[in-house]
Amino acid sequence: MTRGTAGVDVPDVDEGAAELELRGVDKIYRGRSGAQTQALQDISLSVRPGEFISLVGRSGCGKTTLLRILAGLVSPSSGEVLTGGRALWQGGRRDLAASARFGLVFQDANLFPWFSVEDNIALPLKLRGVAKRARRARAADLCELVGLTGFEKSLPRELSGGMRQRAAIARALSYDPSILLMDEPFGALDALTRDRMNLELQKISVVTGATVVFVTHSITEAVFLADRVVLLSPRPGRIRSVTRVEFARPRSLDVESEPGFQDVVRTLRHQLDEEGG
Ligand SMILES: Nc1ncnc2c1ncn2[C@@H]1O[C@H](COP(=O)(O)OP(=O)(O)OP(=O)(O)O)[C@@H](O)[C@H]1O
Ligand SMILES: [Mg+2]
Repeated sequence: MTRGTAGVDVPDVDEGAAELELRGVDKIYRGRSGAQTQALQDISLSVRPGEFISLVGRSGCGKTTLLRILAGLVSPSSGEVLTGGRALWQGGRRDLAASARFGLVFQDANLFPWFSVEDNIALPLKLRGVAKRARRARAADLCELVGLTGFEKSLPRELSGGMRQRAAIARALSYDPSILLMDEPFGALDALTRDRMNLELQKISVVTGATVVFVTHSITEAVFLADRVVLLSPRPGRIRSVTRVEFARPRSLDVESEPGFQDVVRTLRHQLDEEGG
C-alpha cells in the first residue's frame, strides 16, 4: 500500500491475495436511442478476504453499477472482474460457480410479503434443494445472528423497516456467501436505527468473516464500518481516493468522537466537495 497525503492511500493491487478484483474496468451503457453513457472508467481495485470496503460518491457516479459488475449482474464494457483469482466472465458468459459466492442486499428489503420471515430467509436454500428441516434450523440460527429471534413466523408487513433489512441480510447470508454486496441497505432508516444496524452489520461481518462491499451516501457510516473507503468521482466514475481507516474492528460508536475518526471524515467530505456535481 502506498500512502498519500492525509491518510489517503493510493489504490493498490495486491496480487494473489484478492477475494475480489477489478482490473481496468470501464462501463458504457448504450441506450435504445443509441445514446451512450459512460458510467465507469478505468476502475482497478483489489479487496482482500474479510475486508470491509465502503464505496461513496455523488448520486449517479456509478456506485450501483460497480456493485452490479462485482456481482456479475452487469458485464463490464472492458476490463476484468475476478473473484478468488477466477474471471467472473468467460467468453461473455458469467461463471455461475463464482457468482454463487455472493450475497446481495439492496436499499429495499424485497421480501416476499406472503412468506414468513423464516421462509424468506430460507428461500435461497429452498431454491438450492436444501431439505425443510435443515432450512428451518439455518433460518433460526440466522434470526439469532441478526436479532430477529421470536419473529420467525411473522410476515414482513408486521416488521419495522430495520427488521425487514435485517431479514434481507439474513437471507443474503443463508447460503454462506464469502462476499456480501450491499447497496445503501440502511438508506431509508432513521439515524438511531441506522446506528444499531451498523453495529449489527459489523458484528455479522466479524462473525461470518465475509468480505463486504457497502455502498452508502453517509460518509460517517462509510468510515465507521470500513477498513478502506473508496471514493468515486462523478461520471464517469473513477477512483478518486482510497482511504484506510486505522481503527481496529469491531468498533463501538464512541470511535466517532475520536479526533482521528473525524479527520478521516473531514478529508473525505472535502474530497467530495471538490468533486462538485
Ligand atoms: N441500465 C442503465 N442504462 C443506461 N444508463 C444507466 C443504467 N444504469 C445506470 N445508468 C447510468 O449510469 C450512471 C451511474 O448510475 P448508477 O446507478 O451506477 O449511479 P449511483 O452512483 O448508484 O447513483 P445513486 O447514488 O443515485 O444511487 C448514471 O448516469 C445512470 O444514469
Ligand atoms: Mg445507486
